Amino acid sequence: MPEQIQQPDPRLADSAFLKAARGEPVPHTPVWFMRQAGRSLPEYLKVREGVSMLDSCLDPDLVTEITLQPVRRYGVDAAIFFSDIVLPLKAVGVDLDIKPGVGPVVANPVRTLADVEAIPDLMPEHVGMITQAVRQLTAELASINGGTPLIGFAGAPFTVASYLVEGGPSKEHAKTKALMFGAPDVWDALMRKIGGIAATYLEVQVAAGASAVQLFDSWAGAVTPEDYAAFVMPHSARVLERVGALGVPRIHFGVGTSNLLGLMGQAGADVVGVDWRTPMAAAIGQVGGRAVQGNLDPTLVFAPTEVMLERAARVIEAGRAAPGHIFNLGHGVIPTTDPDQLKRLTEFVQSYEL
Ligand code: CP3
Repeated sequence: MPEQIQQPDPRLADSAFLKAARGEPVPHTPVWFMRQAGRSLPEYLKVREGVSMLDSCLDPDLVTEITLQPVRRYGVDAAIFFSDIVLPLKAVGVDLDIKPGVGPVVANPVRTLADVEAIPDLMPEHVGMITQAVRQLTAELASINGGTPLIGFAGAPFTVASYLVEGGPSKEHAKTKALMFGAPDVWDALMRKIGGIAATYLEVQVAAGASAVQLFDSWAGAVTPEDYAAFVMPHSARVLERVGALGVPRIHFGVGTSNLLGLMGQAGADVVGVDWRTPMAAAIGQVGGRAVQGNLDPTLVFAPTEVMLERAARVIEAGRAAPGHIFNLGHGVIPTTDPDQLKRLTEFVQSYEL
């Protein structure tokens, strides 16, 4: 791992976001939104004109600008690093692209042990531009709203494996699960490889100044709890364990995980992300004393403002039963979302009397 770890900024340690993540009392419920940077923002569409998604992720100035856009507009309690879960694969030389409106597409899907062994391990040198981007960004964030923490992130092994094995986005994850069930040795090697890449990618981001990390296992809900425990959890746990050594809060999130939340917490999360299908009270009951993040239905921004805010109040009230609660949507911001609704939602959550 990279030698120099930047000392955490003392102002950031007092931020509502980091306090909630550690389960400490907060002045207000902290709020940020998954996919807060992106197509819902006109200023994003403007700077992305003529620049591909991957090229934007590889340009430290553009990453800095795009990451800061929602922080400026909404005054959210945390920024999330603008990148993508497949970026570290691209950095080690996997032939892939991020197609507009589709998502990551991999030229040569992984099926055999030889395919897995052909993927190099990630070295910090592969992602020098990420180090530069995070340093630049955290320097700017330190003076926004008294110090705004940056969340670094990586895709969890299962979710990244799905793109590598399917060759692109998938609904059923059938080829991925066929490999998992049918060739457990190849599966194990693949998951270890991707897990190692994810852990190093997170270490690089924390070394450069990120205050917390989120491990996105967006598609983990595709497996049963038994299969999650046997084939997925040990690999995510190794990533979270390596990051645990860095002393920053770890958020672990997936979609359709109603019956996996307990295991996702046990995998080594400090905060468990909850999608909107699981009632917050039920989630808190499952995660055993951990902090939670979530979980307003992302479509509620299309409802009248008072309906959205009434539902947000319910989420905040339910979140009080956890040692810490970070308000978020139950999945990413939908691209057609009206930014003014997210602004109203942010102000409502931050001024809600606890
Ligand atoms: O603001 C943020 O949350 C940070 C940026 C971010 C992106 N991708 C930018 C992006 C994050 C955290 C991700 C993670 C990611 N990427 C996940 C896990 C989170 C989740 O949503 O469950 C997954 C599964 C991916 C894979 C991926 N990349 C998908 C499904 C897509 C969307 C396809 C589409 O166009 O609808 C992408 C592309 C992508 N990643 C975009 C953005 C802003 C859209 C590209 C564009 O604007 O042209």
